[in-house]
Amino acid sequence: MSNAPRTTVIRSSGSYVPPQVVTNEMISRIMDTTDEWIVPRTGIRERRFCAPGVGPAELAEHAARRALEKAGLAPSDIGLVVFATMTPDHYFPGSGGLLAARLGLTTTPALDIRMQCAGFLSGLQTADAFIRSGAFDRVLLVGAEVHSGLMPWPESVWDVMLGRSPGPCDAYWYERATGMRDRAVLFGDGAGAMVLEANDSGDGRGFLGIVLKTDGNHWDKLYVPGGGCKSRPYFTPAMFESLGTIPIVEGRQVFRLASLLMPEAVREVLAASGHALEELHLLLMHQANLRINESVQRVLGLPDEKVFNNIQKYGNTTAATLPLVYDEAVEAGRIGPGALVGFTALGAGLHWGAALARI
Ligand code: UT7
Repeated sequence: MSNAPRTTVIRSSGSYVPPQVVTNEMISRIMDTTDEWIVPRTGIRERRFCAPGVGPAELAEHAARRALEKAGLAPSDIGLVVFATMTPDHYFPGSGGLLAARLGLTTTPALDIRMQCAGFLSGLQTADAFIRSGAFDRVLLVGAEVHSGLMPWPESVWDVMLGRSPGPCDAYWYERATGMRDRAVLFGDGAGAMVLEANDSGDGRGFLGIVLKTDGNHWDKLYVPGGGCKSRPYFTPAMFESLGTIPIVEGRQVFRLASLLMPEAVREVLAASGHALEELHLLLMHQANLRINESVQRVLGLPDEKVFNNIQKYGNTTAATLPLVYDEAVEAGRIGPGALVGFTALGAGLHWGAALARI
């Protein structure tokens, strides 16, 4: 046995998106927006939305089973489940235990992380710390989101959007949906998973560094005003009436902060682990807006072959973006053994950071 320090490697990954594709044109049936507005500003062409009754634990189960299958492992081989989401199945308990139960696990601990778009990065840091400490040898980490639950319109409006009803959309809801169009067009549903495990071989593979930061002073740049225990009761009819359960986003501020802080975090994690930017094979970024990612790429001076984005197909899937984009990059042959891969994200909190792994 080698005396090399233990590292955490990505043994496998898996992803899953619900089958219902919603194009920009379909969204424009229920609010005043166009493909011509959405694509140049965000890069998003379509997203996936779940059927009602499908929650993130169900999406996560599909992604987790795919990751386990690729690793040739059974759920019982997992020591800890870590679940990152900002759209849990229930207010409580968290979706981690629900996922574990779906996988047939009845005593395996399951931890929930609610750090929004930085949730998966936080999960990586948590899993890495648990594995390197020796507490667990193998962790199933998932990010899964069902943003469609945040959309407040009734099923009759969904029917118009999905083409199950000829329309037109109810005028009251058309106006209300238009009032939230800057957010409604951005998000999608999906899940991604990784099986992370201990590597004691000293072969240089594994996570080389993870930095994560929080500045809670920016909490109100991106948050949901209604539905919290600061209010009594924690949900009121007035909150729904005033659309207080819909996230508020200071879009331009978040755009600016993401474009500034993600490259900084990437540089910091590279420097802390003694690697140069030129050594990076691929940078995987949170998928909130293609223009943010193009800005990060420009600031870092990375050529196109060193980045990979899939927001065009899925929109922003919050905690699921990094494992989804990682899994697709692997499947596309963009990540092979020995590759130096960077991860970066920023989101509500404000939480942001970066990670570096030798695959
Ligand atoms: O993961 C972290 C979470 N992600 C974010 O917070 C996203 C970061 N921010 C962004 O991606 C961009 O700020 C947005 C894409 C959200 C918005 O782009 P923008 O260029 O900052 O637009 P804006 O919100 O300043 O709005 C400009 C105009 C407004 O019209 P007026 O007031 O100038 O007449 C909006 O009403 O564009 C209008 N607009 C739209 N028009 C058609 C906003 N959303 C839409 C829409 N369709 N979907």
